[in-house]
Amino acid sequence: MEDEEIQEAKAPILAPEAERQEDEADATLRPSSLRDFVGQDGIKKHLDIFIAAAKKRNEPLEHVLFSGPPGLGKTTLAMILAKEMGVNLRITSGPAIEKAGDLGAILTNLEENDILFIDEIHRLHRTVEETLYSAMEDFVLDVVLGQGPAAKTVRLTLPKFTIVGATTRIGSLTAPLRDRFGVAHRLQFYEPSHLMTILKRSAKILGVNLGSEAADKLAHCSRGTPRIANRLLKRTRDLAQVMDQTELSIPVVQKTLDMLEVDHLGMDQTDRQILAIIIDVFQGGPVGVETMAAAAHEEVETLESVYEPYLMQLGMIQRTPRGRIATDAAYKHLGREQKAGQNKLI
Ligand SMILES: Nc1ncnc2c1ncn2[C@@H]1O[C@H](COP(=O)(O)OP(=O)(O)O)[C@@H](O)[C@H]1O
Ligand SMILES: [Mg+2]
Repeated sequence: MEDEEIQEAKAPILAPEAERQEDEADATLRPSSLRDFVGQDGIKKHLDIFIAAAKKRNEPLEHVLFSGPPGLGKTTLAMILAKEMGVNLRITSGPAIEKAGDLGAILTNLEENDILFIDEIHRLHRTVEETLYSAMEDFVLDVVLGQGPAAKTVRLTLPKFTIVGATTRIGSLTAPLRDRFGVAHRLQFYEPSHLMTILKRSAKILGVNLGSEAADKLAHCSRGTPRIANRLLKRTRDLAQVMDQTELSIPVVQKTLDMLEVDHLGMDQTDRQILAIIIDVFQGGPVGVETMAAAAHEEVETLESVYEPYLMQLGMIQRTPRGRIATDAAYKHLGREQKAGQNKLI
């Protein structure tokens, strides 16, 4: 709890995880059909067929796994799947299911064809995960009744359901769990043109006047992430309101970005700090992720699932077997001179 608060104070805008008070606004901006879901065309195309086929066969969907950095639409897709299939959606998360019994209670309460969404599925407790294997594969649940020598195992048959799993760390998933998903999709960062479409749609829903140029600017500063795009839009709207402007103009957008210390590549203070640590403290790298996390006062998990993917996408850092190194682009972006021999280790 305390950690979370510190995190929010430090990076209130770019932290791609949803803030609690944001849930309500999120619900209004969240697309509720595949048609309204912008981008990720390959995934949408597949899901469209996947849904139609399951409906035709009158069967539940196969288990689906969505992976990718926070804020790209994993939860949204789970909700869309349930809606398009016309089934109930139960939402839980890996760390929330403490014991195998808790999972049993959830599963036995499902109705035929229901979807159980498990967020952060890489954080399931081991015993819970093992219980899930047979449930996913054979729709059965082995329950131990009684204790000691008198204990008996009873096999319960479950309704046929679908697990939709989401993870920001596909690499942390165990192989047996990964193998039980018939379908796995990795969400990619969004291109500015798709973010622009999302921003215009959100502006319309929020009833604010967003010009194309301003939308384009916001789109380029949103880290390829719809959640951040929407958040920047709301902050810009706030500033426009304070400044008594009816349009979210370029100067208002720029002022908002300056206030939030977001640069023209969408990088925030923490991103720049990470680069500065590699360059200034570790001579450009390579530096191990644990060392880097300690120096940046971040969790290894946050560094790997939130910051690194975008910095790598921008070509600012590279992962090597010996650790992370800063690229020429990083030196240039921070305005650092590159010394001879520095960062030439690959
Ligand atoms: N493809 C998309 N099109 C439009 N809006 C999107 C899209 N993906 C995500 N969003 C917006 O971003 C927010 C965060 O998405 P979410 O599904 O919660 O991300 P994740 O579960 O991957 O962290 C949603 O509330 C929605 O408003
Ligand atoms: Mg989510």
